[in-house]
Amino acid sequence: MRTKTDVDSLFEPRGVAVVGASHNEAKIGYRIVENIVKSGYNGGIYPINPKGGEILGQKMYESLSAVEGPVDIAVISVPEKIVFDAVKDCADKGVKHLVIITSGFSEVGNVEEEQRIVDFAHDHGMRVLGPNIFGIYSASASLDATFGPGGILSGHVAIISQSGALGVAMIGKTAAESIGLSALVSVGNKSDIDETELLEYLAQDDATRVILIYIEGVKHGERLVETLKKVTREKHVVVIKSGRSKRGAMAAASHTGSLAGTDEIFDNVMRQCGVLRAESLQEAFDWARFLADAPVPKGKYGVIVTNGGGIGVLATDACEKYDVALYDDQKTLKETFSPVMPDFGSSKNPVDLTGQATAEDYAKALDATLEKEGMDAAIALYCETALFDVNKFKEILRREYEHYRGRKPIIFALFGGDKVDHIIDTLGKDGVPVFASVYEAVSCMGALYRSWRNLREQPEEPELYDFDADAVNGIIEKARQQGRGFLLADEAQQVASILGLPMPRSIVAGSIQEAVDAAEEIGYPVVMKVVSKDIVHKSDAGGVALDLDNKKEVVDAYQAILRSCRAYKKDAVIKGVEVVEMAPPGVETIIGARQDGAFGPIVMFGLGGIYVEVMKDVTFRAAPVSRREAQSMVSEIRSYPLLLGVRGEKRKDIDEIVTVATRLSSLIHRCRDITDVEINPLVVYDRGEGVKAVDVRILFKKRPEVK
Ligand code: ACO
Repeated sequence: MRTKTDVDSLFEPRGVAVVGASHNEAKIGYRIVENIVKSGYNGGIYPINPKGGEILGQKMYESLSAVEGPVDIAVISVPEKIVFDAVKDCADKGVKHLVIITSGFSEVGNVEEEQRIVDFAHDHGMRVLGPNIFGIYSASASLDATFGPGGILSGHVAIISQSGALGVAMIGKTAAESIGLSALVSVGNKSDIDETELLEYLAQDDATRVILIYIEGVKHGERLVETLKKVTREKHVVVIKSGRSKRGAMAAASHTGSLAGTDEIFDNVMRQCGVLRAESLQEAFDWARFLADAPVPKGKYGVIVTNGGGIGVLATDACEKYDVALYDDQKTLKETFSPVMPDFGSSKNPVDLTGQATAEDYAKALDATLEKEGMDAAIALYCETALFDVNKFKEILRREYEHYRGRKPIIFALFGGDKVDHIIDTLGKDGVPVFASVYEAVSCMGALYRSWRNLREQPEEPELYDFDADAVNGIIEKARQQGRGFLLADEAQQVASILGLPMPRSIVAGSIQEAVDAAEEIGYPVVMKVVSKDIVHKSDAGGVALDLDNKKEVVDAYQAILRSCRAYKKDAVIKGVEVVEMAPPGVETIIGARQDGAFGPIVMFGLGGIYVEVMKDVTFRAAPVSRREAQSMVSEIRSYPLLLGVRGEKRKDIDEIVTVATRLSSLIHRCRDITDVEINPLVVYDRGEGVKAVDVRILFKKRPEVK
């Protein structure tokens, strides 16, 4: 059943006022009224301007109070200085949504005025879209309340845009590419209503099949993640985010007043949510158009039908790149395609009909593919030859597409001269997914399959490890009272043991004899480390000795450590020396977690040890993660083969990595004062032999934030 959301009346308003409606055609206030009238909206239309009069056949009201009917939306298009007064009038009228077009707020540093408006609106039961936006279009209300070029086609793609200019340009672009919209919303400064709330509405909107989001910076990322995970189970969600490059991120930050999160984190988290991230605007539009019309695949196997070998190989490469599986039952392929191709053709997938094929042969091969059970999708390619009657071919493609579009996904890529370009153009305008590039075509199919795989996976609850969070917070509080923002090694180890993380054995010794006893109890070789709250960087102070093999080495190391630490910091209080089991070598990985500015708690996994900074072979997820999500982090890094075992080595204990990752994820999710935690290295042994958290570091907020 459909749940009513707070923004329902934004998409289905009973009446719309335009505050700042102008008689002057060159002004935004005029264009908005014009679009509302032309789009065929049949609720109340109320242009407001103190001068009164008439505009486009509509009565111009001198003030909102003169309007009799209900006003659910007030589009505000007056200069910044008088927006607040207009908002007050809206409150008196009982307006539900303020759609504030006006610029000059937080995007240029005018944060206070924006906040004043939002606070006032909330106090008076109103919600704010914007400010700094181009408006809203809703197909269900036949309402175009934007200052875009008009002519929006209704359809199944909803667009949410943080960029104004790009969003306006998208109106023209979608019309040119015959992409029908169910909604288009400009969110601008996101002072109140943001993507998350809009997604909740659009997820339930029957007309919407694809949601395309242009985003510059994430605010309230935790809520966004939770919502996206749900929405992607109902609809395809395509996101295009600017700020991929460092310079781009800086430009986006100054542009919108919100900081773009680190791109890798954004990328990984979007994938975790089942969102399709497009590389470019064109790719986003290609996907949106294709996904809006494509049926849900019945299975995973695609068939490439081509009249050219080279283009077939290109498509095969593209299928590998975009993860589209190819049908591979050679016997069935032969039985299916031999009757429709010359003897020298190839029925292997790609099915190569050769340059001798005619348009009719091509149609037969496509029919054979699309009628055959187990051949789940068709990638149809064509290289221009003189044997095809172009007009006939165009109609064949149209007919094939119309006939099968509801049953199996089909995509076309054609390569040739003017006549071919003409087919691409004409069919494209009619909504047939036909491309001039094989890669563009297969990328659409890949997007469909990624979305499909996400839909087929059973949702899995996050793995929340039940640990004593009060004890952890107690350790942190004690350290905080000593003015620290980090835990000492022994304190971090206490936290690790509360989480049940496997660590090398360790005993703190207060004398040489205790150190020797400890080493003999643990067993050689051992490591020794100074224990002092005054010495943070132990190695720099000469406070660490590795690989000690016998009693003599332990005695020498104890004396050497004390000597160098005293020389390093004369007044350092030295509690003793920690004698630690020397972890046997294994694969060194890193697991970390932290509070991210955009997404809140996140976990990280990667290849660890001293090369982590150089290799940057790491991946992120929003916490808390499920076991499957943690597992996918492990299999996603480039060094994954090392964990599977190379050159006869055994597979490593991946299950234990997953367990440690879910526990750190639970820690960062529950103990919000912890800002960073890092285990480096987490040494991983052969399957069944576990892992060891050799070094655990924990940072926290010096003072908890006042909530
Ligand atoms: N109530 C209603 N109307 C009023 C009021 C009032 N209290 N006071 C004045 N008006 C009328 C004005 O008389 C005028 O009508 P007129 O032309 O018939 O005289 C109309 O409201 C508009 O006021 P202007 O002072 O002419 O303001 P103007 O239209 O020049 O600018 C605007 C207003 C468009 C909101 C401007 O301040 C602005 O912010 N522009 C940027 C908008 C923008 O780019 N948004 C961002 C995203 S989209 C993108 O980036 C492409």
